[in-house]
Amino acid sequence: MRLNRLAFVFSTAVLLSIFVVIHGGVTSSYVRVAEPSEEMPLETFPPPAGLNAPEQVHITQGDHAGRGMIISWVTPLNVEGSNVVKYWIADSDGSEKKSVPASTSSYRYYDYTSGYLHHATIKGLKYDTKYFYQLGTGRSIRQFFFVTPPKVGPDVPYTFGVIGDLGQTYASNQTLYNYMSNPKGQAVLFAGDLSYADDHPNHDQRKWDSYGRFVEPCAAYQPFIWAAGNHEIDYAQSIGETQPFKPYKHRYHVPYRASKSTSPLWYSIKRASAYIIVLSSYSAYDKYTPQNSWLEDELKKVNRSETPWLIVLVHAPWYNSNNYHYMEGESMRVTFEPWFVQNKVDIVFAGHVHAYERSERVSNIKYNITDGMSYPVKDQSAPVYITIGDGGNIEGIANSYTDPQPSYSAYREASFGHAILDIKNRTHAHYTWHRNQDNEPVIADSIWLKNRFYLPEEETASVDSRV
Ligand SMILES: *[C@@H]1O[C@H](CO)[C@@H](O)[C@H](O)[C@H]1NC(C)=O
Ligand SMILES: *[C@@H]1O[C@H](CO)[C@@H](O)[C@H](O)[C@H]1NC(C)=O
Ligand SMILES: *[C@@H]1O[C@H](CO)[C@@H](O)[C@H](O)[C@H]1NC(C)=O
Ligand SMILES: *[C@@H]1O[C@H](CO)[C@@H](O)[C@H](O)[C@H]1NC(C)=O
Ligand SMILES: [Fe+2]
Repeated sequence: MRLNRLAFVFSTAVLLSIFVVIHGGVTSSYVRVAEPSEEMPLETFPPPAGLNAPEQVHITQGDHAGRGMIISWVTPLNVEGSNVVKYWIADSDGSEKKSVPASTSSYRYYDYTSGYLHHATIKGLKYDTKYFYQLGTGRSIRQFFFVTPPKVGPDVPYTFGVIGDLGQTYASNQTLYNYMSNPKGQAVLFAGDLSYADDHPNHDQRKWDSYGRFVEPCAAYQPFIWAAGNHEIDYAQSIGETQPFKPYKHRYHVPYRASKSTSPLWYSIKRASAYIIVLSSYSAYDKYTPQNSWLEDELKKVNRSETPWLIVLVHAPWYNSNNYHYMEGESMRVTFEPWFVQNKVDIVFAGHVHAYERSERVSNIKYNITDGMSYPVKDQSAPVYITIGDGGNIEGIANSYTDPQPSYSAYREASFGHAILDIKNRTHAHYTWHRNQDNEPVIADSIWLKNRFYLPEEETASVDSRV
């Protein structure tokens, strides 16, 4: 700690005096003692009033290019009209409402039976347009809205929020509402681990319901691009629940077929100037497996003239200098990292570790069992790896780092927060990280990212923004 601080002060001094950029990593002096992350009780999120009122409303992109939206909600009963979404352009008088029926299912988990889970895919929407949508019947009608993204193109600005490992504690609430107070966020990249229902006796499925109600004020109005984490597996042999990802797959639909994927656990979308690939840390990825073959084909489809920004979402980080979950992403890194470097992936967002970390652009792909060359080296074709598992869930902060800070680690801090990725054009994106203790406008870590395809120059973080 102390040493790192001294190194930080020293490098800042050098930076200022002789204008030499020092690439020593920073361990934030803001490290705090472990905070309790107290769960918001079930009663905090009662179902909405009204007979068979739709609840747990959330949306996600419903096709590959951004003209579709999947609307998901839950009703206690499955009656006439409860599975229909009506929608219309906000800018119209609403006399021409269209409607789409949902596919409906429910599931059992141990002693729990879910409500009716509805998922409706709206297609053929206009780009860059605000729509209202309506769910429910009679006096239980509820109305929401969303804005479709602009047409895909290389210089289309777009702002993503980035959240991981959210859970449903008072800290989670702070993370979500801090993000919502930022008027720029248009869609959320979610790095896995949603409700943490599995941290409760028999994976208390009511916690999936309360989670759905908790995120609704955000997730009903802007798409969350979901990746699955270990807390989505819900595998519990001792209570006879042996179908991995059962609750998650029932509750959170994604447009995986639009990217020729055979599983909702890995898929891709294009949105504005970004191509987003979602991977599953907890599905097979070795050579010859479905995820591996899919990714191999998928990377060939990315057209940087159309979508300059290539972004990957995965749960377990590949570069993590926290003692928690240390090296859990290692075998996937070994499998896929050469492809990421070859294809010049811009950013990899991961969760899992309940803290924040940003890497240098490094790769470790030289490994050869004969010569044993296996260490990260600076590589301007490599992604920046960002661990954003700091959403604030019930398991608390991961506040123990390896010491000394390895050279691949640029900035690390054990605080809860979220990030904003503000893509400006094909060459520049402004990335900022916001800790919960500060108001949203305060930036705790930031960097101007340069696109790996159009401007593969080395970036330097602005040291002055770090407190
Ligand atoms: C969640 O945060 C919002 C915004 O600060 C606040 O109004 C609300 O009361 C919080 N909810 C709980 C349960 O603390
Ligand atoms: C890539 O996208 C550009 C811009 O939309 C287009 O002109 C070009 O034909 C595309 N290339 C391929 C191989 O599809
Ligand atoms: C592995 O390293 C050894 C020793 O440097 C070298 O002779 C060999 O060609 C390398 N193998 C591969 C496949 O690169
Ligand atoms: C791209 O955005 C950056 C940052 O706003 C700006 O400095 C640069 O001039 C822009 N490039 C073009 C071609 O407009
Ligand atoms: Fe996790």
